[in-house]
Amino acid sequence: MPVMERWSSTGAFLLAAIGSAVGIGNIWRFSTVLGQNGGGAYLIPYIIAVFVFAMPLMILEITLGEKLRGTIVSAFRRINPRFVIGWFLCVIVGLILSYYLVITGWTLGYTILTLATGAPSFSEFSSNSLLPIAFFVIATLVTGLIVSFGVNRGIERISIILIPSCVLILLILAAYGTLLPGFYQGITYMFTPDFSVLADPLLWSAAFGQAFFSLSVGMGILLTYGTYMKSGQHIPRFTLIISLADLFVAFLAGLVIFPIVFTFGLSPTAGAELAFTSLPIAFAQMPAGKVVAVAFFAVLFFAAITSTISMMEVGVAAIRESLGWSRVKTTIAVTGGILLLGLPSAMSYSSFALKLDGIKILDFMDETVGTLGLPVAALLFSVTFAWYLPRETLESALGGKDSIARWIIPLCRYVIPGALVMTTIARIASGLGIANTYLLPGSGYIGLLVQLEGITAIVVISLVLIIIACRLRGCNIRKRLGFGNRK
Ligand code: PHE
Repeated sequence: MPVMERWSSTGAFLLAAIGSAVGIGNIWRFSTVLGQNGGGAYLIPYIIAVFVFAMPLMILEITLGEKLRGTIVSAFRRINPRFVIGWFLCVIVGLILSYYLVITGWTLGYTILTLATGAPSFSEFSSNSLLPIAFFVIATLVTGLIVSFGVNRGIERISIILIPSCVLILLILAAYGTLLPGFYQGITYMFTPDFSVLADPLLWSAAFGQAFFSLSVGMGILLTYGTYMKSGQHIPRFTLIISLADLFVAFLAGLVIFPIVFTFGLSPTAGAELAFTSLPIAFAQMPAGKVVAVAFFAVLFFAAITSTISMMEVGVAAIRESLGWSRVKTTIAVTGGILLLGLPSAMSYSSFALKLDGIKILDFMDETVGTLGLPVAALLFSVTFAWYLPRETLESALGGKDSIARWIIPLCRYVIPGALVMTTIARIASGLGIANTYLLPGSGYIGLLVQLEGITAIVVISLVLIIIACRLRGCNIRKRLGFGNRK
C-alpha cells in the first residue's frame, strides 16, 4: 500500500474538488441542456436535483473517503471482500474519461488555432484526420503528466491556478456580454420559468443526469479526493461550497453564452454545435472577437483538464493500491490505456468518421456511458454503501445518530436510488421510442439497440480488466468469486 498523500490545505482540497465538478459540463452542456429544456423552467428541477439528490450523495461519498481511507476498489471491498464493483466504477470513469479527453482536445485545438489563424469551422476541423487526434493525444498526455506529479505537486497546484483563472475570465466575458444588444433577451431566456413543462418526466430526467454529471458525484472521484483530506473536517459545509461554486460557474457561463446567442440570432438549442460551430461565427463578427474566442476556449480547456485529472486519479489510485506500483509507473500505464480507449472516439470526429450503427463513436459513448453509465454507477454507489455498510458505521462516519445522518441515510437509501432508477427508466423508454426525444446535447436520437450494445461493452470491458487486475495480483478468480474450494 503506497504512502497516503494529503492535501496541503482545505482550500487546496476545495479547489481540486471544484475543479473536478467544473468542467465542459458547466459551460457547454449546461447551456445546451437548458436551451433544449425550455430555458428558465429547467432551473427548478436542476436546483432540486443538485441540493436534494446530488449533494447528500456527495456528503456520503467524501465522508466515506475520509473515514475509510481507501480507494473506490477497497471501499467496496470493505463491505464484502468479493465485491468487484469498485473496478466496474473505475471502468465507467475510464470510459467517460476516454471520450471527454477528445472534447478536451478540441477545446485546446480551438484555443491554439484561434490564436494562430482564427477559429476554424467545425466541419473543417473535424474532417481533418490529424488535428482532432493529435489534440486528443496532447490532452491525454497533459492529464497524465499532471497526475504523475501527485496530489500536491500535480493536482492541487494546477487546480489552484486554473480554477480562479476560469472564474476570472468568465467574469470578464460576462461583463462584456452586458454590452451586447442581446443581453436582456439572453437573461430573460435563462431566468423565465415556464411552469407548464415541469410535468414532463424527461425534463426531470435531464436535470438529474446533468446534476450528477456536473458535480462528478457517485463515481468514486470525490471518495478518492476525500481520502487525501485531513480528519475531522466539516464535510457538509464543503459540499455546499462545491455545489454552489459549480452552479455559479454554470450560471456565469450561461451569462456569457446566451447574450451572444441572442445578439447574433443563433439557436439556443443547437446542442454541441453551439460551442464549436455557432459561437465561433458570432465571435468572428464581434468587436475584439478573437480575444473573446481565445478566452472562451481557454476557459473550456482549463475547466476540462481539472476534470480529466480527477477522473484519471480514480484509476491511478486504485491500481497503485492493488498492485503496489509507483505513481509514475501507474500513470504511464493508465495514460496508455486511455489513449487506446479514446482513439476510436477521437477518430470518429476526424476524416475517418468512425461510426457504430450510423452513430459517431463519440456520440455513442456519450449516450451510453455518459448518460446511462453514470446513473448506474451512482446507483451502485448509493445502494451499496447506504444499505450494506452497518448503520452504526454510517452514523458515526457522518457525525453521530442525531447528526445529518438522520436525513442523509434515508435519502441515500430510498430517495436517491429511486430517482436514479426513474431517470434511467425514462431514458431507456425514450430510447425505445416511447418518447421521441433527443437525450443528450449534440447527439441525435438513439435506439435501444445502441444502448444495449453500450451496456454490454461496459460489462465486457470491466470483466476483462478485472481478470487482468486479478492475474497481475496472482489471485485465483474462481476462488475469489466463491466457485473453488476456499481455504
Ligand atoms: N463534472 C465534469 C463536468 O461538469 C464532468 C465529469 C463527469 C467529471 C464525470 C468527472 C466525472 O464537466
